[in-house]
Amino acid sequence: MKKYQTGNAEIDQQHAILDSMVGQLSVFCSELKLDPDAKCEKCSSIKRQQCTVTLASITSELTAFLIGHATYEEKMMALLPDTPSCQTHIKGHKAAHEGILRQLKKISIEVVNKSPQAICTQMFQVIRNWLGEHVAKFDSPLVGLGKIALPEIDFDGELVAMLDEHVFPNRPTITKKSLGTEFALERKKLEIRGRFESLSTAQRAVFWLVVSGKKNPEIAEALGVTVNTIKTHRASVFHKMEVKSVLELVKKADILR
Ligand SMILES: [Fe+2]
Ligand SMILES: [Fe+2]
Repeated sequence: MKKYQTGNAEIDQQHAILDSMVGQLSVFCSELKLDPDAKCEKCSSIKRQQCTVTLASITSELTAFLIGHATYEEKMMALLPDTPSCQTHIKGHKAAHEGILRQLKKISIEVVNKSPQAICTQMFQVIRNWLGEHVAKFDSPLVGLGKIALPEIDFDGELVAMLDEHVFPNRPTITKKSLGTEFALERKKLEIRGRFESLSTAQRAVFWLVVSGKKNPEIAEALGVTVNTIKTHRASVFHKMEVKSVLELVKKADILR
């Protein structure tokens, strides 16, 4: 986890979410956990199809999150002064973000043709490797460059507030006034909001229905999908929101409202 930390609270939080999304991939195939040499061919075609659908949704969530995250970092980079070293950084950093998105897109096209297991392993390796290297090569220096070049801007406070206003208007802002317990609560809100934002549209719908006390069959009927699909969404919601019970989820939902 440490290697994804830059020292900027906002970026670190986004990296942690990204990391947990990639983590989802590592626990994607239950067969693989039982037998490391398991082959997809051993699964029924229905199961393979379900896996393909789940993988496709994980891929699209990851892509959406990466685009949002890259936008955030780009706005941050745009504030760097026009020095040769800053410009070199911006160019390389942007290209690296575009590169991983291209790779992800390429892999996602293959989701329908290749075995889900092979795609999952490929995606996991590509993104995990990228994330670690990228943070060390570009994200941490981004924060560092901001600190050296713009001493008057507090990258962890003012800038985050500014970006919240322009890039993530729904995100609660950290203000310098929020100290002590108030600050801790703000951080908690920010963390929960970040987790919630990483949910897909379908997962958000499931989230609110679970919170309102609906059972899986009722949710399935309300959304016009199978109970199994709801179970998958429910598991993803629990994982991403980092809760183990409905009660915990309700508590987090209360903080979101
Ligand atoms: Fe980056
Ligand atoms: Fe990043």
